[in-house]
Amino acid sequence: MKVLITGAAGNLGAELGRQLESRHTVLGADILDGVDYRLDVTDFEACRRLLAEVAPDIVLHPAAWTDVDGCARDPARALLINGVGTAHLAALTAGQGIPMLYVSSNEVFDGRLGRPYVEFDRPNPVNAYGYSKCYGERALAQVNPKHYIVRSSWLFAHDGRNFIQAILSAAAAGKPLRVVTNEVANPTYTNDLAAAIASLIETERFGSYHLVNEGAVSRWHFARFALDCAGFAEAPVARISRHEWQRPSLPPEYTPLANIAGASIGVVLRPWQESLRAFLEAEASG
Ligand SMILES: NC(=O)c1ccc[n+]([C@@H]2O[C@H](COP(=O)([O-])OP(=O)(O)OC[C@H]3O[C@@H](n4cnc5c(N)ncnc54)[C@H](OP(=O)(O)O)[C@@H]3O)[C@@H](O)[C@H]2O)c1
Repeated sequence: MKVLITGAAGNLGAELGRQLESRHTVLGADILDGVDYRLDVTDFEACRRLLAEVAPDIVLHPAAWTDVDGCARDPARALLINGVGTAHLAALTAGQGIPMLYVSSNEVFDGRLGRPYVEFDRPNPVNAYGYSKCYGERALAQVNPKHYIVRSSWLFAHDGRNFIQAILSAAAAGKPLRVVTNEVANPTYTNDLAAAIASLIETERFGSYHLVNEGAVSRWHFARFALDCAGFAEAPVARISRHEWQRPSLPPEYTPLANIAGASIGVVLRPWQESLRAFLEAEASG
């Protein structure tokens, strides 16, 4: 297949490119340099020209404005990039009968259900980032029947600036650590998510999926486990509530995702503890 990946300079987009290139012709686009095509998904004409030039067999769309606090400060920009940008690609792929996969988030849910969310639970976002991702989901589902909507959560990636790297470098620098106990979701290794997406796109079983590493955990327990595995078992981590961690975007409280649809067709990710150990080993070996 000829696969066009948006956000190809980002954490997941780059990993998708690495994993798919042995089996497919892969072309990457991003607002950043260093990929095959420069693309701003908010520019409909640029999206139209790129699709005409590449003529892909499928579009994978992880590109997004992922700065959740930035989204809270500028919700209109969040909606433009994550919502309207997705609607552009959805309309163009639908017009040409091309399948499209959109990467969405646990933050489309409000976190008040009290059990893990299944694929058909109703989104009800509580912050600007979640709202913009939800807009993207609906824009795609409404116009392109050949869609995959893949929700994931708490991605950790090599070369990324994410929660785990922040915790480990703070511990290495001897800085005091305070981590939230009442935010719960599924930590997910981008390498595992990319592999799951690579399997999913072979199936042509269109629909909504929850592709996360198995198991839910609080931010605090996730940090504690990572520190213990990385040789910082003595580093103290204070427990705080999400209301004590002042930030523009308040995350939903309890948003584990249950992978029912993917599991029914054999697309399953390993437990997050195994993935985190594999991630830390890969980081340590450079
Ligand atoms: N990270 C997580 O914990 C997490 C959790 C659940 C779901 N997701 C979803 O998973 C996907 C991938 O996440 P990620 O962590 O790999 O994100 P990422 O590293 O931030 O990659 C996203 C890429 O899209 C680019 N981009 C931003 N605006 C664009 C535009 N207007 N046109 C084209 N490209 C644009 C970004 O550039 P800039 O760097 O310049 O913005 C970046 O290179 C996203 O859709 C995200 O919503 C992420």
